[in-house]
Amino acid sequence: MSKERNNYAALACSALLAVSVSTAAFAGDVNKLVEVCSSCHGKDGNSAEADIPNIASYSVEYVTKSLTRYQKKERPCIETEIRSGSKKGSKSDMCKIAAGLSESDIAQLGEFFAGQTFVRTAQATDAEMVKKGKSIHNKKCFTCHAESGSEPSDHSGILAGQKMGYLKQEIKFFKEGKRPISKKMKPKLESLDDAEIEAVIQYYGSIQ
Ligand code: HEC
Ligand code: HEC
Repeated sequence: MSKERNNYAALACSALLAVSVSTAAFAGDVNKLVEVCSSCHGKDGNSAEADIPNIASYSVEYVTKSLTRYQKKERPCIETEIRSGSKKGSKSDMCKIAAGLSESDIAQLGEFFAGQTFVRTAQATDAEMVKKGKSIHNKKCFTCHAESGSEPSDHSGILAGQKMGYLKQEIKFFKEGKRPISKKMKPKLESLDDAEIEAVIQYYGSIQ
C-alpha cells in the first residue's frame, strides 16, 4: 500500500515537472510568434483595424487550415501595411507571414488564439437589411455557421461581430473562385444576389 502511494507520488511529481517545463518553453516561443500577429491582428487577436479580421477564439483546426493555405498561396496574398510595433508602416501579406512558420509554430499559434476571447466589432448597420440578412442566414447558412456564425468548433471562421469589409471581400473571393470553398457552401452563395449578400453581411456585423 505504502509502496503504491510512493509510486503514485513520484508519478504525480514527474508529471507536474513535465507540465511546468513544457509550459515554460511554450510560453517563450509563442510570445515571440504572437508578437508578429499582434502587429496587425491586435494583442489578443482582436484588431482595431476595419480591414483586418479578428482571429481570437478561432479553432486550432481553422487556424492551421488557413495558415497552411496561405503557405501554399491557395488563398489570395493581399499586400497590407503592418499597423503597429517596430515594423509599423512596412508592407507584408499573410502568405509571406505564413511562409516562415513551422508545423509546430502553427500548432502553438492555433492553441494561443483558440484560448483568446472574440470581441465583436461595433459597426453601423441598417435595421431592414439586418432583418433580411437574418432570414437568409437562417435558411442557407446556419447549418455550417451555428449560433449566428459564432461557434469556433464549426472550423469555419467567426462571422458574428466580424469586420464587415473582411466578410464582403472573402465572399467575393469565394464567388470568383479565388479562395477554396466547401462544395456545399458554393451553391448557397451563388443563390444570393448582391443585395442579399450585403444583407447577410450586415446581419453578422450587427451582432453584438
Ligand atoms: C501585415 C498584417 C498582418 C500580420 C502581421 C498578420 N496578419 Fe493575419 N491577416 C491579415 C489580413 C489583412 C487578413 C485578411 C485578408 C487576407 O486574407 O490577407 C488576415 C487573415 C488571417 C487569417 C484568416 C482569417 C479568417 O477568418 O479566415 C488568419 C488565421 C490569420 N490572418 C492569422 C495570422 C497569424 C497567426 C499571424 C501571425 C503569425 C498573422 N495572421 C499576422 C493581416 C496580417
Ligand atoms: C455546407 C456548409 C456551409 C454552408 C451551408 C455555408 N458555409 Fe460558409 N463556410 C463553410 C466552411 C467550411 C468555411 C471555411 C472555408 C475554408 O475552408 O476556408 C466557410 C467560410 C465562410 C466565410 C469566411 C469566414 C472567414 O473567416 O474567412 C464566410 C464569409 C461564409 N462562410 C459565409 C457563408 C454564408 C453567408 C453562407 C450562407 C449563404 C454560408 N457561408 C453557408 C461552410 C459553409
